Amino acid sequence: MLQNLPLLFLFCLYCSPTQGSIQHERKPYIVYMGELPVDRAYAPEDHHNNLLATAIGDWQLARESKIHSYGKSFNGFVARLLPYEAEKLLEEDNVLSVFPNTQNKLHTTRSWDFLGLPLKLNRHSNVESDIIVGVLDTGISLDCPSFNDKGFGPPPPSWKGKCVTGANFTGCNNKVIGAKYFNLQNAPEQNLSPADDDGHGTHTSSTAAGVVVRGASLDGIGVGTARGGVSRARIAMYKVCWSDGCSDMDLLAAFDEAIDDGVNVITVSLGGTPRKFFSDPTAIGSFHAMKRGILTSCSAGNNGPSTMTVENVAPWILTVAASNTDRQFTTAVHLADGKKARGMSINTFTPEKKMYPLISGALASKVSRDGYGNASACDHGSLSQEKVMGKIVYCLGTGNMDYIIKELKGAGTIVGVSDPNDYSTIPVIPGVYIDANTDGKAIDLYINSTKNAQAVIQKTTSTRGPAPYVASFSSRGPQSITVNILKPDLSAPGVDILAGYSKLATLTGDPADNRRNVFNILSGTSMACPHAASAAAYVKSFHPDWSPAAIKSALMTTAIPMRIKDATAELGSGSGQINPVSALDPGLLYNSSMDSYIAFLCKEGYNSSSIGILIGTKGLNCSTISPPQGTDGINYPSMHTQIIPSNASISAIFYRSVTNVGSGNSTYKAKVRAPKGLSIEVIPDTLNFGGVNQELSFKVVLKGPPMPKETKIFSASLEWNDSKHNVRSPIV
Ligand SMILES: *[C@@H]1O[C@H](CO)[C@@H](O)[C@H](O)[C@H]1NC(C)=O
Ligand SMILES: *[C@@H]1O[C@H](CO)[C@@H](O)[C@H](O)[C@H]1NC(C)=O
Ligand SMILES: *[C@@H]1O[C@H](CO)[C@@H](O)[C@H](O)[C@H]1NC(C)=O
Ligand SMILES: *[C@@H]1O[C@H](CO)[C@@H](O)[C@H](O)[C@H]1NC(C)=O
Ligand SMILES: *[C@@H]1O[C@H](CO)[C@@H](O)[C@H](O)[C@H]1NC(C)=O
Ligand SMILES: *[C@@H]1O[C@H](CO)[C@@H](O)[C@H](O)[C@H]1NC(C)=O
Ligand SMILES: *[C@@H]1O[C@H](CO)[C@@H](O)[C@H](O)[C@H]1NC(C)=O
Ligand SMILES: *[C@@H]1O[C@H](CO)[C@@H](O)[C@H](O)[C@H]1NC(C)=O
Ligand SMILES: *[C@@H]1O[C@H](CO)[C@@H](O)[C@H](O)[C@H]1NC(C)=O
Repeated sequence: MLQNLPLLFLFCLYCSPTQGSIQHERKPYIVYMGELPVDRAYAPEDHHNNLLATAIGDWQLARESKIHSYGKSFNGFVARLLPYEAEKLLEEDNVLSVFPNTQNKLHTTRSWDFLGLPLKLNRHSNVESDIIVGVLDTGISLDCPSFNDKGFGPPPPSWKGKCVTGANFTGCNNKVIGAKYFNLQNAPEQNLSPADDDGHGTHTSSTAAGVVVRGASLDGIGVGTARGGVSRARIAMYKVCWSDGCSDMDLLAAFDEAIDDGVNVITVSLGGTPRKFFSDPTAIGSFHAMKRGILTSCSAGNNGPSTMTVENVAPWILTVAASNTDRQFTTAVHLADGKKARGMSINTFTPEKKMYPLISGALASKVSRDGYGNASACDHGSLSQEKVMGKIVYCLGTGNMDYIIKELKGAGTIVGVSDPNDYSTIPVIPGVYIDANTDGKAIDLYINSTKNAQAVIQKTTSTRGPAPYVASFSSRGPQSITVNILKPDLSAPGVDILAGYSKLATLTGDPADNRRNVFNILSGTSMACPHAASAAAYVKSFHPDWSPAAIKSALMTTAIPMRIKDATAELGSGSGQINPVSALDPGLLYNSSMDSYIAFLCKEGYNSSSIGILIGTKGLNCSTISPPQGTDGINYPSMHTQIIPSNASISAIFYRSVTNVGSGNSTYKAKVRAPKGLSIEVIPDTLNFGGVNQELSFKVVLKGPPMPKETKIFSASLEWNDSKHNVRSPIV
């Protein structure tokens, strides 16, 4: 018997694994097949089932393994596969890529006025109300007044979408005209419906296209008018994010349907590690959207200020960084000796007493220590409940001390941080973050030198501060996929944004928190992304015929250059902060056609057969397409090159063409701003347009000796000016 064992083992290596025992080892893979065939008789599901059966070698098993067929806006499917089956499928003629399903993460009122898009504004209200913003997110809560449909007529006739009802979601209205959810993994979730258990999707949707709500606030904080950038536009929610994140396969399913349903702009405030275009669901989805004239706006990620952290980098995506506005939320601390301090936080609590006893973590330390934990930092387990109860505690560090002090029944936390954040968070008990080196030191000294130290933390108020800066958390370039394209593309407000929220979630997301509200203040590139999406929708309402690349160009070349504060900011803010009103009249556009994207992909090394499947053209041959010239090979509204190795001489050429969309006869002159040690020549440096829609070409030649060792970034700019328009491109 024993001798037979190895034989059995060998036998099983070669047999096709047909039965259930192996089924659990199968993992979801996405099989991406590019553009749908034009043939009307083509039945995607049948084709997918055939391919799957061939790869698995068993019809029954193939059927069980199939999860979902895409086939409305592009071709492909998801199935549970073993690695060798995935490899087999990749060899098929019609398959462009096969990649394992992964999870993506969310990139967690006054902002529109700050952007120069005031309430009373020239709007194409009728056109705007025909614009549909597709939001791929955590769901939506119609309890929020931002989605009141008073005054809205029925959905535009072109709308093909649906409203799916279910747990905690009773239906749509004429503002939120569509809602669907995608849970292909069949995860057991609380609300299997478009209901928003998180609040994130309600926040992003209302930022993009919420109606005007006067007197909106978070418990009196940030009182003002809350509204979306395009308040007349409609919203369609595609819920793709659940308790464990947002999966590739759900994201792709949402793109597949949103494009087909007839949305006009897509906003996606989530992301993951950048991947090659054909294995990246956001790159794939947004490509097919772009092909049908739909621009996709995506958040850049929250992993700044480190460089090389930017996500969602495909050139047809509008990649959005987060900037601050001139409004800050700050919280005051009053000490019993009359001294005051102020720091960042959103403290919704109104103090019940005049003063509370005040102690520091260091002095509230347990007498007999359990052996570890830092009491000064209020580490878990290091403090004595007896000493903390009913008191405000001063802690050093950056963690979530408010949770620890709450558990010990403390009255509040003052956290001394050595490098304070440039955004505010919501503590679960009264709390504030102050500068440890200045105010923090003074408070600590007061505690040490006073017998009955007392303090009170006031409710948060809003104050004015300098802007716009790129937020410290906003992800920075350079990117790793297309090294000579600058990402993020531009910045939009993403710091302390007051917008709609879901009452299914608590303000902090902590189940023990009992505060719920239809508005909340959140920060992140997640909040910036829908601002840019609605700016795009606003431009589209005036120029319905402009391509996604044209709209993106208009937003980029009219953006306001950002203030530069930190070393990596120039790699983090793109062209600057969006300026929607100027974007209506940019003067010139850097446009891109499908042919130019094909040439670009050929240049990037994707082979002819892959690109042919992507766009649905048989016999595409890169060798017959004249390669795009220059360093980046694409007509991009910004210019960027990475100097590799870093001690190499600087040398780059950017070939560009611009379309005149300003006045008929106009003369644009080039104006260059360059740092010492970098020569920038624009040839020709004057463009004479004889009419609108005329396209003229030029090139920009960069030359210079190797950059000084201590310099990491050279930042310059090109402006085309006809005295009416200033068309600006950053050169980094
Ligand atoms: C609605 O949501 C609440 C809170 O999340 C939950 O307790 C309740 O079960 C949900 N209702 C339905 C019908 O699922
Ligand atoms: C305790 O934490 C504070 C604040 O992070 C730090 O400055 C201090 O060095 C820490 N002490 C010890 C003993 O680790
Ligand atoms: C206050 O006292 C604590 C505990 O003795 C000590 O760690 C801290 O450095 C003192 N702070 C100041 C500002 O003197
Ligand atoms: C930009 O290019 C597209 C595709 O070639 C074209 O349809 C469009 O008219 C061009 N111009 C503008 C302003 O979008
Ligand atoms: C094209 O690229 C794909 C994916 O990298 C590869 O599987 C295929 O063999 C390539 N085709 C040719 C003709 O080189
Ligand atoms: C692509 O075009 C080149 C140059 O015309 C030719 O040599 C090559 O055979 C073509 N390849 C295919 C697959 O048709
Ligand atoms: C650049 O640096 C590399 C490695 O650090 C070195 O080998 C090379 O000689 C340097 N080149 C120049 C031109 O300094
Ligand atoms: C533009 O200039 C040409 C000649 O330079 C002239 O014939 C034409 O009328 C002008 N058009 C406009 C709209 O000014
Ligand atoms: C460029 O154009 C702007 C209008 O946007 C104008 O105000 C400015 O003076 C012009 N600058 C130059 C140098 O011509």
